[in-house]
Amino acid sequence: MSETARLIIDGKEYELPMFTGSANEKAIDITKLRDLTGCVTLDSGYKNTGAAKSAITYLDGEEGKLWYRGYPIEQIAEYGSFLEVAYLLIYGDLPTEKELRYFTESISHHTLVHEDMKRFYEAYPTHAHPMGVLSSMIASMSTFYPESQNPNNFKDIELTIHRLMAKMPTLAAQAFKVSIGHPIIYPKNAYSYTQNFLHMMFALPTFEYEIDPVIDDALNKLLILHADHEQNCSTSTVRMVGSSQSNLYSSISAGIAALWGPLHGGANQAVIEMLERIKNDGGNVAKFVEKAKDKNDPFRLMGFGHRVYKNFDPRARIIKKSCDDVLNKLGIHDPVLDIAKQLEEVALQDPYFVERKLYPNVDFYSGIIYRAIGIPTEMFTVMFALGRLPGWVAQWKEMVEQGEPIGRPRQIYTGHDLRDYVPIAKRG
Ligand code: CMC
Repeated sequence: MSETARLIIDGKEYELPMFTGSANEKAIDITKLRDLTGCVTLDSGYKNTGAAKSAITYLDGEEGKLWYRGYPIEQIAEYGSFLEVAYLLIYGDLPTEKELRYFTESISHHTLVHEDMKRFYEAYPTHAHPMGVLSSMIASMSTFYPESQNPNNFKDIELTIHRLMAKMPTLAAQAFKVSIGHPIIYPKNAYSYTQNFLHMMFALPTFEYEIDPVIDDALNKLLILHADHEQNCSTSTVRMVGSSQSNLYSSISAGIAALWGPLHGGANQAVIEMLERIKNDGGNVAKFVEKAKDKNDPFRLMGFGHRVYKNFDPRARIIKKSCDDVLNKLGIHDPVLDIAKQLEEVALQDPYFVERKLYPNVDFYSGIIYRAIGIPTEMFTVMFALGRLPGWVAQWKEMVEQGEPIGRPRQIYTGHDLRDYVPIAKRG
């Protein structure tokens, strides 16, 4: 017999069905709640709301588990290539050699962006943040490919997915080049996905950039670690926008906008800025821990805490180790890494952080690696977006295939009672 939940409102009892996920997580199905009872649920920040049934990513915040399509993140990050992982997320299984070759070749085929798009860059102010530029460039792509946007046409969507995967690194690198007044570097299809991105970021017409395998590996790992994270803010945004049957370009553009915020993907930039600030202030880590605890001070320890992980963030563990490896291999001593380690040590022993289960998250160490491999601070969140793209695409595709209804939450109105319009002369 299937489980049910019993709800009593004003003495009247209602039975609600339960849904159990494949990892045994239990949910009360409230789809008929309003019809049955006249009530809706109130859950600001959706802390208790399962917005989707999804077969893409599983995470257990108490146990610190993260799986992509059933594979643990530790194995995926150790052995996978980013395109292989992107294929896994989008299509559900690891690709065969033939499937991966086709996917890789198709993406390489689409790396160029329409030359007309270069003209947009002339209109942005020189120091425009690359996340703002990227979000609007991706939205603009919809105007270049109006013929391939039907969410219910498999061929259209396939082409759009490959175009997005191919062109987003090109657009990201172009945004960077323009921001520093350098000429745009065209993609080279002989390179791998990550090599090509590094080439477009760092080569110059006057200088052939030599790709360091340590940097290439670090980038591959970082992109994989960011590739999906179930129903986070940006992914929920992508699904929400897509639920109105808006095209995939607009949905991804909205996801980029959501990711930009410092409480989400923007935290990686905010972490480095915070560590720099602590270093420039004399390196008194304890002082900043106190500030973070002070409820009258808006300062928070960036890179600490997570809505779901309440034990440790498995991505942060992998990144921390990788950070040491990369810095050692590149022979870099970054004083900011010392500050980060001290901060982690002090915070993890402080009752405020222990009681609230606040641990370093994925963004705490990622910025230090990005810095070591030469990525400028303002590009950190763009790197997160490049990594998250296959996750957004996979979640959007799943939503479309499941025929999800348009996302439209309810509210509880707390405003004025009905009142009559007052002409302006009679106000005040
Ligand atoms: N520094 C100081 N206090 C904190 C922090 C922090 N980083 N994070 C949470 N708290 C406190 C918060 O003030 C609250 O205290 P109290 O119970 O006394 O009111 C308690 O911990 C619970 O925090 P919350 O804000 O209710 O938790 P949330 O689940 O709504 O927020 C978060 C999660 C990630 C937005 C938050 O921890 C935060 O702002 N962290 C810093 C920003 C950051 O690193 N974001 C990256 C997240 S991982 C990358 C990704 O988005 O995927």
